Amino acid sequence: MPVPLEHRARAAAAAVVDRLPARRSVPLAEPPAGSDLRPVLGDPGLPVVGNTLGMMQDTLAYCRRAHERYGPVSWTGSLGTRMVLVLGPDAIGEVLTNRDKVFSNEQGWGYLIGAFFERGVMLMDFEEHRDHRRIMQQAFKRERLVSYLDGMNGTIARGLADWRPQDGFEIYEATKALTLDIATEIFVGAETGADADRLNEAFIHTVHGGQTVIRQDVPGTRWHRGLVSRRLLEDYFRGQLAAKRAGDGADLFSVLCRAEGDDGAGFSDEDVVNHMIFVLMAAHDTSTITLAMLVYYLARHPEWQERLRAESEALGKDAIGYDDLDDLPLMDLAFKETLRMNSPVGMLARQTLRDTEIQGHHVPAGTNLMLGLYQTMRMAQWWEDPDRFDPERFSEERREDQSHKYAFTPFGGNVHKCIGMHFGGMEVKAILHQLLLRSTWTIPAGYEPVMDYGTGPFPVDGLPISLRSR
Ligand code: HEM
Repeated sequence: MPVPLEHRARAAAAAVVDRLPARRSVPLAEPPAGSDLRPVLGDPGLPVVGNTLGMMQDTLAYCRRAHERYGPVSWTGSLGTRMVLVLGPDAIGEVLTNRDKVFSNEQGWGYLIGAFFERGVMLMDFEEHRDHRRIMQQAFKRERLVSYLDGMNGTIARGLADWRPQDGFEIYEATKALTLDIATEIFVGAETGADADRLNEAFIHTVHGGQTVIRQDVPGTRWHRGLVSRRLLEDYFRGQLAAKRAGDGADLFSVLCRAEGDDGAGFSDEDVVNHMIFVLMAAHDTSTITLAMLVYYLARHPEWQERLRAESEALGKDAIGYDDLDDLPLMDLAFKETLRMNSPVGMLARQTLRDTEIQGHHVPAGTNLMLGLYQTMRMAQWWEDPDRFDPERFSEERREDQSHKYAFTPFGGNVHKCIGMHFGGMEVKAILHQLLLRSTWTIPAGYEPVMDYGTGPFPVDGLPISLRSR
């Protein structure tokens, strides 16, 4: 896949900006008189674009510099506002713990993706969030996961049978199509086919809607297409609701229709529609990027590919069930290391509801925060040789992830911790298991994927591998 022009233009512009002399640091706001708090220091960057280019183009280098210069809390002009950058396990842990209920998901994520994912569970706060999450939890219980996994194995086998061995096989694109088919069947309970294609297209436009510079409803823009597609998804789910409520389907849509919290309360029709659209989004790119990057790392480190294949063969099963997951410990190490190296949700958004403090720094009300999960998991202070793919760092002997409660956070932490983490893990592993048994793959020596940054780092060149049948 040719690297998009937009990406190349941004990379060139970022390289120029990178060579500009470091700017003077400025306090975000003066701490209240008499307090012993320190100001958050940072710099606004260029007029209009701020530091967005540097942050997005080479976010690791940018955040390492910010951490060195200002410590765990700094501010930067980015995405049209002043963003406070929160780095390192202590600072991230302080925000995720949210002891004083001062950090809002609704306001933080709402600023970035609210137009497309309004009333999704991640965009709710406090008591309301707790109530919705309790109901939603019913759809992610163990017995549900067992049933989803059994349901998806056939889709995986059919999907992989269509992956023709060839050089230049774009694993990221192929994975995206496969996980979308899985979502259509397991989440929506629809057959893949013409209707599903229409649904998939609407879903893709909705996800991409917010990933644009023009953040207004102007016809012809991504934002506009995203809004139109969101309406289409709403209409589709609303149209299916009565049948789903009446039936006894095992798909996530049906389960959400029937789910009840401890007090017997369930979701309204509007809730089900909003949660479906959000969960589809939350599940899709994350699992796709994880699997594609895991395949890439296994091509780069063929000894690990062989170890994982031997482990999968030793299981003696064409497809895994939920109980088999514990018998794939090496795959689990490689899965975790991929999440650390390439955290699909790179940053978490929050906004302060009142004046507060983070690590002794004064942060005024209404400040947008970005919690750098990806950047923190690649910092030498907490990880040995952090840019090296080294799955053994998660082994019992080393357990680098236990150096701090918030050192390893690809799924976030505390009350908003990913509700689909077990689902995502089993989906990625179920696909990889079947792929290891059917195929081998390599990449040309010296190949490096071209990465961009959306919700986290992702390959923009489709990630071409040489795929062979076994
Ligand atoms: C490897 C795959 C995945 C990764 C790395 C990931 C990562 C995350 C992260 C970091 C959060 C926390 C957001 C925050 O605190 O602001 C989150 C929340 C969430 N994720 Fe995932 N996710 C993955 C897969 C999934 C899947 C498969 C589903 C659904 C089936 C899912 C559904 C959700 C939902 C509903 C939330 C919001 C939870 C809440 O706010 O209470 N995720 N995810």
